Amino acid sequence: MDDVSIVKVGAERLDELEQLWLALHAHQTSVDPGIEGIPPRPPDESWPLRRANYLRWLHDDADAFVLIAETNDAESIAYALVSIHAADDTHVTGARIAELQTLSVLPSHRNAGLGTRMMETVFSELRSLGIHELVITMIATNEPARRFYERFGFRPWLTVALGKVPDARSSVAD
Ligand SMILES: CC(C)(COP(=O)(O)OP(=O)(O)OC[C@H]1O[C@@H](n2cnc3c(N)ncnc32)[C@H](O)[C@@H]1OP(=O)(O)O)[C@@H](O)C(=O)NCCC(=O)NCCS
Repeated sequence: MDDVSIVKVGAERLDELEQLWLALHAHQTSVDPGIEGIPPRPPDESWPLRRANYLRWLHDDADAFVLIAETNDAESIAYALVSIHAADDTHVTGARIAELQTLSVLPSHRNAGLGTRMMETVFSELRSLGIHELVITMIATNEPARRFYERFGFRPWLTVALGKVPDARSSVAD
């Protein structure tokens, strides 16, 4: 991994992230708990929507950032995207908090320490911005990711529920 550089970039390099996003999307789909009637979105529909979200997050706060890990021959093998938000309203945080919107390492490069290097670079960038809290959202059944983030001291916090709006005639299940 010594031949891998981690560089901070902006929106101009978003188009390079598509394959890395699709690798993450495939992993998420493989661990998806399966919500009835709300299947995972097909990959070709997912990237344009994700890209639009990335543009919005990067536009919303000039300190939001993207890290790309690239090999000596300029292959992008991992990325992280961090957005910046106002203070949490129910917990004592700094004036701004960060959210790790994505961390994706290509399957062929996992379990070799690159994800850890990416997280250490995210922490270093946040320290330099004076931001002390980071929110990380993951699919509830993404056990490897939960274990990975716990190693840095991050613990499950909110539980988000997803379901269909019941139609007008159905009643609440007993
Ligand atoms: C989660 C993810 C980002 C971690 O990246 P990674 O590069 O595999 O991370 P690391 O190699 O630093 O650590 C992963 C594991 O390998 C181990 N490891 C680290 N360096 C190692 C090495 N040199 N040799 C063997 N194992 C090593 C770590 O101890 C860690 O173990 P754990 O599973 O008990 O936590 C990556 O697996 C990934 O992209 N997963 C799919 C997408 C995903 O789930 N992303 C998070 C969504 S929120």
